[in-house]
Amino acid sequence: MTADPISPIPQSGRVREVPPAVAAMVDLIRQTWRQAEPYTPEISQFFYGMLFTLAPATRDFFPINMESQRGRLVRALVHIIQLVDRPDDLAPFLRQLGRDHRKFGVVPKHYEAVGTALLAALKRQLGDVWTPPVERAWAEAYTIIARSMQEAAGKDTNPPCWLATVAEHRRLSWDLALVRVEPEQQVPYEAGQYMSIEVPQRPRLWRYLSPANAPRPDGSLEFHVRAVEGGWVSRAIVSHTQSGDVWRIGQPMGRLAVNRESGRDVLMIAGGTGAAPLRAILDNLAQWGENPKVTLFYGGASREDLYDLEQLRALASTNPWLTVCPVVEHGEGLPGFAHGTLADVVTQHGAWPEHDVLVSGSPAMIRATVSRMLVAGTPLDRIRYDPFTID
Ligand SMILES: Cc1cc2nc3c(=O)[nH]c(=O)nc-3n(C[C@H](O)[C@H](O)[C@H](O)COP(=O)(O)OP(=O)(O)OC[C@H]3O[C@@H](n4cnc5c(N)ncnc54)[C@H](O)[C@@H]3O)c2cc1C
Ligand code: HEM
Repeated sequence: MTADPISPIPQSGRVREVPPAVAAMVDLIRQTWRQAEPYTPEISQFFYGMLFTLAPATRDFFPINMESQRGRLVRALVHIIQLVDRPDDLAPFLRQLGRDHRKFGVVPKHYEAVGTALLAALKRQLGDVWTPPVERAWAEAYTIIARSMQEAAGKDTNPPCWLATVAEHRRLSWDLALVRVEPEQQVPYEAGQYMSIEVPQRPRLWRYLSPANAPRPDGSLEFHVRAVEGGWVSRAIVSHTQSGDVWRIGQPMGRLAVNRESGRDVLMIAGGTGAAPLRAILDNLAQWGENPKVTLFYGGASREDLYDLEQLRALASTNPWLTVCPVVEHGEGLPGFAHGTLADVVTQHGAWPEHDVLVSGSPAMIRATVSRMLVAGTPLDRIRYDPFTID
């Protein structure tokens, strides 16, 4: 995955008329962030210094070694603040994010401290550019977002997080592991959602993972984790997780789902471990007698990247509504495989105008695929992916 954000393609397709005052606010924020962004490390350092002075209890929410986070929160805050003109997309995500932040122990006064620290850090970096209208724009946008998160957090009756014991850890390849955990209590998620996870080898470094199974009666969750180069958490999970480890699991998030009532067939596009949430959705569909036709394009750089292909083919062999099409970028001559990127191969078949489309994978893969499909003529409101992720 790349470290840059998914470009803000509206998810809903209903591009609501943005009130001029909101448009002007977002313009000011974007203009000033363009100037500040190269200094994210300096801004982050000042931000954390001020936050830990204003609200010392928040220091414990973050890992001991802050180097491993490298401005994650500041980048996340700014990324989300810039989307304040897309309330239809942003509101459901903010509700999930606010509920999820309960796992850190965040309370309302911490939101105030984060807002003050962010604005002070930007002011310090931007100097004369930080005029009263600029300050008002940032403050207003932050307040809208923080309020929405806090309201959802205040209403949530779930526990702030769930404890789950690792029951199985199996290496599927040198850089990939399957981990099955058994939560103490059912985690109330829908197939296709993701959740943040903390593992004992990396305290307070939460990372998102997507269960590869629909909710089961025994509540167990299966994760597919690929170790990324230089990755703090993924490498620890793949190499050092053991049965008996206790994981903490945050609130389910995300909106990937199949609408069985839409009357439309479904196109699924999965890259790498992006297959996991789609497999969970297929797992759920397989419990029904009748389903829309589903075509799944499952792609990677080489054959080895399609670690779940045999299981997906097995699922297709017993569920005639499902067709699995493997795609590799390198590996000319592999019989039964299409060649190219997922974006190339999927759009070779046209615009898929009669389908609902689900895309899952790295931000770079999602961005490339969604952009190409829009150019090919796929209606925007038919495409679903989980936006707002910054890794
Ligand atoms: C919604 C969502 C669902 C996800 N589901 C899964 C899942 O089911 N299984 C899974 O294995 N991962 C999944 N991820 C990715 C996961 O959350 C972590 O980002 C990933 O495991 C890397 O974490 P890390 O701590 O090892 O790397 P970090 O220490 O955070 O990053 C180290 C370096 O690796 C780069 N990097 C981060 N992620 C990737 C990547 N995926 N590929 C290449 N380089 C990367 C970073 O930019 C950085 O340079 C998901 C991410 C999101 C946003
Ligand atoms: C408007 C307010 C906020 C927004 C939009 C926001 C957004 C986010 C997002 C998107 C992440 C995930 C980053 C990732 O892992 O990719 C995150 C992580 C985190 N947030 Fe918030 N947050 C807000 C307020 C707060 C507050 C008030 C606190 C309390 C101090 C807080 C503490 C944390 C911590 C500890 C993490 C995980 C560690 C890290 O990523 O640095 N956040 N936040």
